[in-house]
Amino acid sequence: MIRKDIRALSAYHVPDSSGMIKLDAMENPFVLSGGLQEAWLDTLKQVEINRYPDADMYDLREMIAQREGLDANQVLLGNGSDEIIQMLLLGNEPGTCVTPAPTFVMYNLMSQWVKRSVATVPLNKDFSLDANTFLQVCAREKAVIAFLACPNNPTGNLWSRETVEKIIREFRGLVVIDEAYAPFSEGTYTDLIAPSVMVLRTFSKMGWAGLRLGYVLGDAGVIADLNKIRMPYNINSLTQISARFFLQHNDVFAKQARDICHERSRMMASLMAMDDVEVFPSQANFILLRVKDADAIFVGLKEKNILIKNMHAQGGLLSECLRVTIGLPDENNAFLTALREVLL
Ligand SMILES: Cc1ncc(COP(=O)(O)O)c(C=O)c1O
Repeated sequence: MIRKDIRALSAYHVPDSSGMIKLDAMENPFVLSGGLQEAWLDTLKQVEINRYPDADMYDLREMIAQREGLDANQVLLGNGSDEIIQMLLLGNEPGTCVTPAPTFVMYNLMSQWVKRSVATVPLNKDFSLDANTFLQVCAREKAVIAFLACPNNPTGNLWSRETVEKIIREFRGLVVIDEAYAPFSEGTYTDLIAPSVMVLRTFSKMGWAGLRLGYVLGDAGVIADLNKIRMPYNINSLTQISARFFLQHNDVFAKQARDICHERSRMMASLMAMDDVEVFPSQANFILLRVKDADAIFVGLKEKNILIKNMHAQGGLLSECLRVTIGLPDENNAFLTALREVLL
């Protein structure tokens, strides 16, 4: 029989988006250009699909390490960064996990899967994080692991270096800095990597969400230990060969990230000009808004075939909040027009 506490959970819900302008999941909206698509499909022909994938993935880890100025033995790959979060929660010594609130929901959910208690530290009204409060909660709970999403999802802001450094200096457990939105952010904290500090990244937001590939950067000894609980062959052959190909064409995706940031500024300016819309600054590929009636606006947009994320049900600081992913210029224009109409 399945554990009672698992039976009491709700499964992660992915809404049906067929036929809609999809601005709900922080995906990169650009499709591959014809030439690149052809060249990529061509490389897939080399895959021997009857064989298990390369289990060690040295070449891929080396390519990623070089981008970060690290060694291949400081990189561990996961089936999306979600899988790595699960490995960290499984492998870290028993004890409480501390996260800010609100933040990425999977830290909390996966902690429950592995029977790890969670303590949350409310963000300030402007979504900044108070390092002293965070550290007090860590000490009170004798916490062993903390997740800091930098920039944070769903608020979009990046906590200051001062805040992050203070937490790292004074917290006695493992700090996981989740940089899922690094391609769109002004700052990165990879220079803080140490035996008790790891940096998590994903390729999902860069245009390869369908590949399911994430990685964690850390101290070589910690990575070696974590590798002991990695599923053999966790990254399939098609993903491995595709990732190597896409990394060789990184300039395409880097340009797309710059275009997304440009669109973000344009969206931000248009949203700020609207009455009854509070817009929060973002260093990610989405924007958080607060409106008067989030449920009604979410439904109104959906009726106009635009799918965004309604955060209202989470309550607290997210009351009346909506999160919109930056799409293609036409999609963003459609969203802005529809929002103006439903706000009336
Ligand atoms: C902060 C953060 N970390 C990790 C992830 C998971 O990414 P992946 O697609 O690599 O599992 C997300 C997804 O939205 C996220 O927002």
